[in-house]
Formats: sequence, structure tokens, C-alpha cells
Amino acid sequence: MSHVQPIVASTAVFKDDIFKGKVLFCTGGGSGICKGMTEAVMRHGADAVIVGRKLDRLMQSAEELSRLTGRTCLPVQADVRYPKQIQDAVAKTIEKFGKIDFVICGAAGNFLAPISGLSENGFRTVIEIDTLGTYNTIKATLPHVRATKGSYIHVSATLHYRGTPYQVHVSAAKAAVDATSNVLAVEEGPHGVRSNVIAPGPIAGTEGADRLTPKGPGSGMGAMPAGRYGDVKDIANTAVFLFSDAASFLSGQVIAVDGASEHIRSMQ
Ligand code: HXC
Repeated sequence: MSHVQPIVASTAVFKDDIFKGKVLFCTGGGSGICKGMTEAVMRHGADAVIVGRKLDRLMQSAEELSRLTGRTCLPVQADVRYPKQIQDAVAKTIEKFGKIDFVICGAAGNFLAPISGLSENGFRTVIEIDTLGTYNTIKATLPHVRATKGSYIHVSATLHYRGTPYQVHVSAAKAAVDATSNVLAVEEGPHGVRSNVIAPGPIAGTEGADRLTPKGPGSGMGAMPAGRYGDVKDIANTAVFLFSDAASFLSGQVIAVDGASEHIRSMQ
């Protein structure tokens, strides 16, 4: 007989079944932080759709997420830059699950490049993935999220609070994501829809920390007041809270989950 891992909730502080019967739609859910958030929400009872460009990775992640959580995870290939593709992904979600309660807009592009070495197309590509992709995802999901009085989480960053070298494209894109979420919160609040942003600090084992965090003075563990980098679980647990009823009056906020590292950066 094969060994079956017991399914445990992601958090000890929230009841196991708080998201029972809920459906999550997550762009960028095939890997990293967004996969971690999806796992946590599924561990609390939700089914999920993960959306991304790489079908192989999505299928592998969906199988893993279903096995770990005992819920259903549907992988759907789509590029958030193209409205038709994201609309089709939403249609597949409705066909499979009949509704959408929660949306994570997490698909993002990133690389390090100075302004002097960045092409117009390079700048545009990241704006299209992060900002236009967020807009396209909101447009395609909103009628369904209104119907359930659901909730959005957008994944941003802290790098645009100050000038972060080699990140002009991402800084501009993420500032626009923050602004978009705030407008969504205000416009859709009367329909019972909430919208918030999670701005992760350096998270161990992710693209952001491993490949993209600028090196040099003020970086590294010395810039971490908590004495550690963040863990994907730190972001995942924040997502559980934001989607839960415990956050029912929390909307239009940008929440930095960074162990206060942004405060210490401002002192340097
Ligand atoms: C300079 C680059 C480049 C690089 C791409 N471009 N990589 N320019 N340096 N390293 C330019 C290309 O030359 C081209 O412009 C344009 O960008 C589009 O490139 P393509 O490869 O044709 O586009 P595409 O395949 O659609 O996407 C490229 C990509 C994507 C955006 C780089 O593959 C990608 O994002 N990969 C990484 C995904 C990732 O890491 N996601 C996690 C983000 S974490 P020209 O002019 O030549 O046509 C995150 C956290 C932020 O966002 C916090 C960090 C601290």
C-alpha cells in the first residue's frame, strides 16, 4: 500500500474548512509565491484554477496541488497579455466549477536591466505582463466575482517605493498594479467585492530573491530586521487571511509582507 501523506491545513490559526465550496482563479499559479498561495487556500477547502504560459509546469503543479490538498486543481494555459486567452481560461473555470470567489493576479515578468540598456520592447513586455495582464484578468473575472461578492489579491513588490536600480520596467508596472487595485476596491466595494495588494519582500527560494534582488550595500541579511528572508508560507498565510471573513472590512490596501525590510532600506 502506498504511503499517503495526511492532509493538513496550512495555518493553525484558521479553521481547516473556511474556504470549503470556494473557487480560486490564480494567474502565475504554476510556481513560486502564487503556487504557495494556491496551496494554502486549497488546504483550507477551495478548488483552484492555475493559469500560466507553460503547460508542462502547470500540469505538474496542478497534480501536486491536488495530491497535497485533496481538492481539485485545474491547469489552464493562457498568456495574461491577451484578453481572449484569459477570457477562455475564465470560461473553462466556469464550465468546471460554475463560479469564481477569489482571484490572485500574480503573473509577472522580470529581469535586471539599466534604463540605458533596456529596449522599448523590454519595458513594454513587463508592463504588458504585469499591468495589462492584471487589467485583463480583472476584466475577465469581475462579473463572476461580483456574483459571489468575492475578493482579489494582486501581487506587487516594494521596489517602487524608492528608486531600485535595474528595475524601471517592473517598478513602473507594479506601481500601476497598486493603483489599479485601489480603484477596483473603491469602484467595486458597493458590489461587495474587495481588492488588496500583497507586496512581498525578499522571499527565499523564489525568482525575486535568487535572481533579481540587486546585490550590493544595503542588501543581504543585514537588510532583514527579522534576521531571515521571508518564506513562501509567509505570503500564503497572508493570502488566507485576506480572503477570509476576518478581513471583511479590509480593502484597498497594499500590505508589505517583508519583515520590515523596507523600513530599514529607507534609513540607508
Ligand atoms: C534586457 C531583456 C531581457 C534581459 C528580455 N529582454 N530579457 N532585455 N535584459 N535580461 C527584452 C528582450 O530583449 C525583448 O526586447 C523584450 O524584453 C521581450 O523579450 P522576449 O523574450 O521576446 O519576451 P517574452 O518571452 O514574452 O518574455 C520575456 C520575459 C519573461 C519578460 C523576460 O520570459 C520573463 O519574465 N521571465 C521570467 C519570469 C519571472 O522571473 N517571473 C517572476 C517575477 S518575480 P527586444 O527589444 O530585444 O525585442 C517579480 C518580483 C519582483 O516580479 C521583485 C524583484 C526584486
